[in-house]
Amino acid sequence: MELKSTSKNKQTRLSTSPYKGTSDSYPEEMFYRNYLFGIWKETAKSFGYEEYDTPLLEEASLYKAKSGEELANKQLYAFTDKGGREIAIRPEMTPSLARVIAAKRKELRLPLRLFNIGKFYRYEKPQRGRNREFSQLNIDILGIEDRTSEVEITQFIIAVMQRLKAPKETYELRISSRYLLDYLYNDILKASEEQKSNITKAIDIFPKISKNNFPKYLKEINLNSEQIKQLEEFLQWNLNDLEEIKEKSKGAKQLLELFSLLDELEINNVKFCPYIVRGLDYYTGTVMEMFDIGGNKNPRALFGGGRYDNLLEIFGEEKLPAFGLGWGDITTLDYLKTYNLLPPYTPNTELFITLMDKEYTKESFRMASFLRDNGINTEVQLEEMKLSKQLDYANKKSIPWVLIMGQEEKEKNKVLLKNMKTSEQLLVSVTDVPAKIG
Ligand code: HAM
Repeated sequence: MELKSTSKNKQTRLSTSPYKGTSDSYPEEMFYRNYLFGIWKETAKSFGYEEYDTPLLEEASLYKAKSGEELANKQLYAFTDKGGREIAIRPEMTPSLARVIAAKRKELRLPLRLFNIGKFYRYEKPQRGRNREFSQLNIDILGIEDRTSEVEITQFIIAVMQRLKAPKETYELRISSRYLLDYLYNDILKASEEQKSNITKAIDIFPKISKNNFPKYLKEINLNSEQIKQLEEFLQWNLNDLEEIKEKSKGAKQLLELFSLLDELEINNVKFCPYIVRGLDYYTGTVMEMFDIGGNKNPRALFGGGRYDNLLEIFGEEKLPAFGLGWGDITTLDYLKTYNLLPPYTPNTELFITLMDKEYTKESFRMASFLRDNGINTEVQLEEMKLSKQLDYANKKSIPWVLIMGQEEKEKNKVLLKNMKTSEQLLVSVTDVPAKIG
């Protein structure tokens, strides 16, 4: 943290800003985040997925193995601990999940349906949809080779979007396959090993670069004019093109199977997009990303995922078919704000007990306990002050109910229950309050 000192005043002052690329969450932001997390969690449970967790710290080597150059080197928060180990703060969940499964491979009953909501850290340039600290829902199914695993996760995605009340015309799930890239490189482009990784990068930037600049870029990475033409054609492919090569390409065959199942289930916010490649090295077959297509405010994917059947091999274990995704909170909250899909902020407190006289403090605490035991979130005034100020506080916090107990009410063993919206007041016994509010 930055230390500031002034020449006049020798005292040092600490900055109140959070570390670059991170943000503090005040109650209102927590409310929105918890709204999203709640929908993720409840939907995952409704599909039979179980929650797990892993440490925030991992050996850095876990990411060097198969996460790819960008994540493992440029974006990793890594340090050497006091014991000389190279440690990283987790930038993603998938390698940790693979480690957890590999450690108990023989004891775990397959298929495994798992989810986690946690924080992750990447050293990135902060911008819309990208921060250095963010949360992700990770949802993964392990032990199923069949396309049914991809269909199930797609059904989950659509269920979440429906629960978020997302209009169908504002989002699109884009799907492709890493196996299709193998066909492109080996059978169409006849690309050298060196060219392959450059072409993958080129395909990744294709949607972000202008039509005119793309061929120039391809020339710069040494593709010949025939290869450039073939690659540009490939990037326009649709499902009919896959039909033509389904006997020769595992990727085409699997994608056709997947799209046919999705079609039968009338899931139609999905599109085959040959330029979806994903940046992480461990993906094997189907890959997917979700985009906001209702405008151009949110260019980043809401989530990304794919199949990673070989990841357990880094622990010397046998392959295990696996498919899943990481769904970011920042990109999704941006999307929900864009379409006004967030519910109005409501504070936790349902009822506020005013304090008219210090002598009534004990009575206030007793009433509060009774109300809380009856399921009402209750806040208590702790210091004596003008009633108007207390009501003003309740009003500003949008607390819907207020209890007032002055001398008159106390003598009658009653309280005044005030509805803050209508200003209606009722003289009731405390024991009747839960029923009145209910
Ligand atoms: P990823 O594409 O690196 O995949 O990240 C998935 C999602 O996390 C992104 O689409 C985005 O919503 C969010 N995200 C990533 N980086 C940032 C950032 N710097 N700021 C804000 N949000 C971010 C993975 O992490 C894979 N491990 C996902 C996965 C799970 N694949 C299979 N299972």
